[in-house]
Amino acid sequence: MSTSDSAVDYLWRGAFTNDEIHALHAEAFETRLFDEHEWDWVDQCDTYSLGWVVARRDQRFVGFVNVLWDGLVHAFIEDVMVDAALRHRGIGVGLVRAARDGARAAGCEFLHVGFDADLRAFYIDACGFEPVLGGLMDLTSAD
Ligand SMILES: CC(C)(COP(=O)(O)OP(=O)(O)OC[C@H]1O[C@@H](n2cnc3c(N)ncnc32)[C@H](O)[C@@H]1OP(=O)(O)O)[C@@H](O)C(=O)NCCC(=O)NCCS
Repeated sequence: MSTSDSAVDYLWRGAFTNDEIHALHAEAFETRLFDEHEWDWVDQCDTYSLGWVVARRDQRFVGFVNVLWDGLVHAFIEDVMVDAALRHRGIGVGLVRAARDGARAAGCEFLHVGFDADLRAFYIDACGFEPVLGGLMDLTSAD
């Protein structure tokens, strides 16, 4: 059962540092720790994203979601991630709701997400996405 964490602030296009997001991303997706010379998240989000949401609890960076778009009415979320020590308190849902609100305020009409079956309870049941068919092509594999 979720314990709602009302002490968390959800900041549309909120400030964050590369050190903060690299640490969260490495933990969330179990990768090695990259640095800003390999991957400049701050510049990449500023340049390409419609927006993003930063979750902070007592100023600590505890969650993030990136919001991409087609420049018109379709927005897409990527890289939803929550500090492992603070999961199952509703922060993931809070991030997605703030992303939805930011995309809607920017004039978008649809919010898309892709995910594996094991995350169905999060995206469909908890966040409220409608299940749809989708496809994925691995562009790095040989034809
Ligand atoms: C997925 C993730 C963002 C969820 O964050 P969270 O703050 O724990 O989510 P919430 O507390 O808002 O979850 C609400 C409900 O969604 C479901 N849910 C949450 N995480 C889930 C998971 N990993 N798998 C399946 N269902 C999940 C549960 O029903 C949960 O309710 P409960 O806490 O009562 O069990 C977090 O587990 C995470 O950062 N995972 C690693 C990165 C990742 O895989 N991101 C998604 C990429 S597509």
